[in-house]
Amino acid sequence: MRIIGTGSAHPKRTVTNDDLAQLMDTSDAWIRERTGICSRQVITDEHLEDLATEAAQRALDDAQIEGKELDYIICSNVINEYVTPSMASIVEGKIGASCPCVDLNAACTGFIYAIDFAEALLQTDRANNILVMAAEEPTRMVNWNDRSTCVLFGDGAGAMVVTKGNGLRAIKVSSKSNLGVLHYKRKLEPTPFITKEEEHKPLYMAGQEVFKTAVTSSLHDLLAVLSEAGLTKDDITYYILHQANFRINDFIRHRFDVDASKFPVNMDRYGNSSSASVAMLLDELNRMGRLKKGDLLAFSAFGAGFTSGACIIEWNK
Ligand code: ACO
Repeated sequence: MRIIGTGSAHPKRTVTNDDLAQLMDTSDAWIRERTGICSRQVITDEHLEDLATEAAQRALDDAQIEGKELDYIICSNVINEYVTPSMASIVEGKIGASCPCVDLNAACTGFIYAIDFAEALLQTDRANNILVMAAEEPTRMVNWNDRSTCVLFGDGAGAMVVTKGNGLRAIKVSSKSNLGVLHYKRKLEPTPFITKEEEHKPLYMAGQEVFKTAVTSSLHDLLAVLSEAGLTKDDITYYILHQANFRINDFIRHRFDVDASKFPVNMDRYGNSSSASVAMLLDELNRMGRLKKGDLLAFSAFGAGFTSGACIIEWNK
């Protein structure tokens, strides 16, 4: 795999910590100190599929190819207004593509899983150009009366176009079933036959347990991919980590004993945008001109499942 283009899109509404403090018993200081988040972009009148399309089109433009040249679209998504068709299929029509399309849900790790699937398609000669994307609106899963979760999230979409190449040095994804720490139960349509009790539950998160599991799994995954690629922690140009909590990423950085400039951050402005966060941060670095040919990028993410994953990609655009 080789990355040839990136894109992202965000909702227009900025919600600051102070805005939240008007709505609930919280404060800028609490949120900032506990999470590193200062503001987030939140969906108001936008539809997630339109943000996903914008991110996809920007990635295509950056790659200098057209939608019709895509051989596959893989979109990581946890929730959006459509249960079916897939987000990938909706975007396909809007960008003029005509190719197989599929969504996957590996929670916040979804973008890493999508990279894994894309690599398998490229390796087996099933595709040449693949749009790998993530579009998420986690603000629609949380209980806005639960200050311990709703302050953490923001919405957005990120995308990249990949083609054949030798960029992917190592990848690892995993899952350990554990519903207890993190889950969301949606409401299904009633039927005349349902006899069981069904409960709609907004996002539940055992914050401290997730924090510990996140640190452990990310460290483990990153060390595993570094070892598989025969690289050391200092060989990595940027650690592009899931933007859930600054303290999680900073803990990992301290363990690795590398400079803060190698751990770019955008959660301060976007909050946790689930699986879109790594894709959005990658696009930000690309557009800021911070990525150079030969740079080694380590991606890492974790989420409900409990899933986690990491990979190392050489930037060769
Ligand atoms: N404002 C003010 N006070 C709050 C808030 C808030 N927004 N939220 C909780 N509190 C209070 C609690 O009620 C509690 O008060 P009490 O001591 O009187 O009971 C106190 O703050 C401490 O609460 P904790 O939950 O223990 O706070 P903690 O230091 O663990 O921080 C946090 C909570 C930020 C959620 C932290 O546990 C965390 O970041 N965990 C990891 C979360 C994460 O990474 N999630 C994403 C993973 S998966 C995904 O991306 C979907």
